Amino acid sequence: MNIRPRRLRINDNIRRLARQTRFSADALIMPLFVKEGLRDKAPIASLDGHFHYSPDRLSEAVEQSLKQGVYSFMLFGLPIEKDECGSAAYAENGIVQQALRILRARHGDEITLITDVCLCEYTSHGHCGLLRGQMVDNDKTLPLLARTAVSHVAAGADIVAPSDMMDGRVMAIRAALDSEGMDDAIIMSYAVKYASSFYGPFREAAGSVPAFGDRKSYQMDWHNKKEALKEALLDIKEGADIIVVKPALSYLDIVSAVAEKTDLPLAAFSVSGEYAMIHAAGQAGLINEYGVMCESAASIFRAGAEILISYYANEVAAAIRKGDIG
Ligand code: PBG
Ligand code: ZN
Repeated sequence: MNIRPRRLRINDNIRRLARQTRFSADALIMPLFVKEGLRDKAPIASLDGHFHYSPDRLSEAVEQSLKQGVYSFMLFGLPIEKDECGSAAYAENGIVQQALRILRARHGDEITLITDVCLCEYTSHGHCGLLRGQMVDNDKTLPLLARTAVSHVAAGADIVAPSDMMDGRVMAIRAALDSEGMDDAIIMSYAVKYASSFYGPFREAAGSVPAFGDRKSYQMDWHNKKEALKEALLDIKEGADIIVVKPALSYLDIVSAVAEKTDLPLAAFSVSGEYAMIHAAGQAGLINEYGVMCESAASIFRAGAEILISYYANEVAAAIRKGDIG
């Protein structure tokens, strides 16, 4: 008998028939940056191809994605004013709150609106929580995160995504949402978030470079894998509905372990540094950007993620439609 796995690779149609990972634009989330202002759309230097939009123009980005079949968006805000306690994050008319109201009014239920819940874009010191001296005060930060989440849902968010890595925040946010009657609001928790150098371009884009120190006292040490499961299970116990692992490409072992050991939908965030690397190497003529993008997206789903947050969301959706990823 002649055993030939090659038979399943014989032509395009058969290869597609026999694929072991399937794709859909339904699984993609596009990050968007919204900035105070009017009629403004400015290129983001650290994220070539992405823009800072004023709230009145954010719809342009939404429409571009909708054309590709991408209808889920994750909003990041850039306020004008920052202070010690990040009050612009939970202001009634904060930048993300304005954007949510506009997008919801314009697009209705056609789009899914997800918001990053964190203080680092809003604090003068750039840390993800309130400070006590040079240290982040975990417990004093919790009510502010909860307040931010409630204000996002009140303005139209379907899903809140806390990315601060404070202990106990999922429980605090769930309790606050429930006490406001927001039982249906979903928590997508960045349960497993490493203290990564891959966030560099994002911090430039979001103006959230910490004024001193780093985020290692609250984000995870990338030497650790078991800790990822501990964090994920804790967040699930506290009431998370979707778990996020971040970054993605250097953490596929973590994606795979969390996918196997938990029973919630799993999202992987292919972060700014991943996009920037692939894009820059492509521009330099060193790699085929499109090919590497397709392969990277496939690897993340193959590792076990059901959802992909990516700056390439529109291009990945187009590649799925063309059949280049299946
Ligand atoms: C805010 C936040 C960060 C990212 C998402 N939410 C930056 C950070 O923790 O420093 C990174 C996203 C990216 O790099 O694309 N806490
Ligand atoms: Zn933060």
